[in-house]
Amino acid sequence: MNLVLLGPPGTGKGTIAKFIEVRFGCAHVSTGDLLRDEVASRTAVGLEIEPVMNSGALVDDAIVLRVLEKTLAGLKGKSFVLDGFPRTLEQGEILEPLLARLGIALDLVLEIDSPEEIIVKRLSARRQCVSCKRIYGLDVPSKNEGLCDECGSQTVLRKDDEPEVVKERLRLYNDITRPLSDFYSGRGLLRKIDGDRTLQEIFAEVEKLLSP
Ligand code: AP5
Ligand code: MG
Repeated sequence: MNLVLLGPPGTGKGTIAKFIEVRFGCAHVSTGDLLRDEVASRTAVGLEIEPVMNSGALVDDAIVLRVLEKTLAGLKGKSFVLDGFPRTLEQGEILEPLLARLGIALDLVLEIDSPEEIIVKRLSARRQCVSCKRIYGLDVPSKNEGLCDECGSQTVLRKDDEPEVVKERLRLYNDITRPLSDFYSGRGLLRKIDGDRTLQEIFAEVEKLLSP
């Protein structure tokens, strides 16, 4: 099953994608994580996009597409959960022929939403593992502060999680990304998930939705 997760920053896309990866074996493909890896590796692309990402703006389509296409092709038919792409109507339109070229069909789009005050609070407390990308937060703390339970690497704050930058990311989501909800609803692929609940409740609903 190939999925897309839509939803504002901090609403739980990465956390839910990791659950789906473990429970259903779909590879978690996060364009945000792929782009942050470019920044961390100090590649030419990484140096170019670092200030853009730190400001909360969107990275140029051509760069995101290059990174995404390479990753999807590398999956060699393994199912995936796409987190952070598409993010504009144009990207939604580009994704269709891209998947068709790879012989892949999209099965479902899950749209998660939460109130903005909860999002800002969650993001100021989020830490992410630099290596395996596991996500920690107020309700999911790591056992040893600053270290990942899974692989022992460092966990860090994201530069774009400062409240002012989060505001800009939310504004962009509402203006530019939210129309994708109607786009996928029109294709009969959209299911809405209330993100303002405990993770256990959300995981149970997702599990029910995705179980055969
Ligand atoms: P990206 O990495 O995709 O960030 P985002 O969409 O802003 O979303 P986040 O990763 O911040 O939040 P999330 O929904 O994954 O929440 P999480 O599970 O971590 O993109 C970053 C940047 O990359 C963009 O701004 C842009 O510059 C660039 N980019 C990426 N894709 C692009 C594209 N396609 N085109 C152009 N540019 C692109 O959860 C957040 C916190 O809340 C965690 O601490 C978690 O533990 C906690 N939490 C989650 N759910 C719950 C819950 N139900 N109860 C309690 N705590 C919870
Ligand atoms: Mg994320």
